Amino acid sequence: MKKTLSMALAVLTVSGLAFAGGAKDASNVVLNKDKPLVFFNRQPSDPTTGAIDMNSMNWNAKTYYVGFDAAGGGAVQGKMITDYLATAPASIDRNGDGTIGYVLCIGDVGHNDSKARTEGIRKALGTWNGSTDPSVKKDGSVVIGGKSYKVVELEGKAMTGTDGSTWNANAATEAMGGWATKFDKQIDMVVSNNDGMAMGCLQASNYPAGVPIFGYDANADAIEAIGAGKLSGTVSQNVDAQACGTLQVLRNLLDGLTAADVYTKGISAPDAYGNKISATMQYVADKKALLAANSAVTKANWQDYKAGKRDMGVKQSTAAKKKVLLTIYNSADNFLSSSYLPALKYYAPLLGIDLTIVQGDGQNEASCLDKFTNFNNFDAFAINMVKTNSGRDYTDKLAY
Ligand code: BGC
Repeated sequence: MKKTLSMALAVLTVSGLAFAGGAKDASNVVLNKDKPLVFFNRQPSDPTTGAIDMNSMNWNAKTYYVGFDAAGGGAVQGKMITDYLATAPASIDRNGDGTIGYVLCIGDVGHNDSKARTEGIRKALGTWNGSTDPSVKKDGSVVIGGKSYKVVELEGKAMTGTDGSTWNANAATEAMGGWATKFDKQIDMVVSNNDGMAMGCLQASNYPAGVPIFGYDANADAIEAIGAGKLSGTVSQNVDAQACGTLQVLRNLLDGLTAADVYTKGISAPDAYGNKISATMQYVADKKALLAANSAVTKANWQDYKAGKRDMGVKQSTAAKKKVLLTIYNSADNFLSSSYLPALKYYAPLLGIDLTIVQGDGQNEASCLDKFTNFNNFDAFAINMVKTNSGRDYTDKLAY
């Protein structure tokens, strides 16, 4: 009964919103279940094992994920840190005990990006013991100025805010304050799985001056902090390629493209309007995932990553206007609000996409899901979930 009623409403409210390339009912209306759907930034996956949720990815033939190479990024971050240490002065070992002690801001233990970074860092430093669990680690070793040092992860913390939100910068400020007191000169380095938490650590009033600190994301404030000598390095996950890639895949699907054209047009080859993302993106077929590459940002190259540099390969297109409903899991997330969202807003009009953005609180799925509605007003959807295993909650809503 419910289904019949809402289907009838769908037909009533969207007559006239038809476009090429989708299954249509008798009145030429594309049903919501047949519209393009792109998950981005939070890959549908099992929070414990990290296994990709292929049920969500196979919701319909027009479902894709756009993100970046998370595992590769963890390795880039790990190498950036060991490269830094290789040429660091012996004074980096603050208490001269031959051990490099570090503290780790993890972010969100149930998020694939967070897991990949913890693994990459620990593998590079030899502290990886087969699990991203904060407590499962071992002593490692690293070479500094040609000499081998023992490495100890003094403590790792998820950084959950008082409101339950993850990747929380305030939690990092507080944790750093506690660590500085508890470990004092045993702390030789601070590693964070994102820039928001790294910048949070630097806010601690007792942050040990001069101790190197690394983040991830290449947010504008972090880039400036590298220039100012406060942050030692970060990793760019190429937010421009990702935001534009999310929109380009939607554009291709909305234009009725199929098969490889969906993830190549405007990406590795020019699209019908002459646009092409400059960066190389990799397509992983078995996960239906289009991924941007990572790059290390340090004092040697930070100027290249300054805010406002956009992809000149993407210009105003003549594509027909389409409406997309897009969710963001947490309006307060540093990366999404300061890097991803401005990029989306820049590229969407160029690609003829009219975005309606709804944002959650980073804690309750309902804060996003309740605003994921009025589907008949939209031609396609882009989803950034609060929990990585909530894909089905969204697709279920589109089923009618
Ligand atoms: C970013 C984090 C961000 C998270 C949100 C990650 O890829 O690196 O900074 O908090 O995405 O899902």
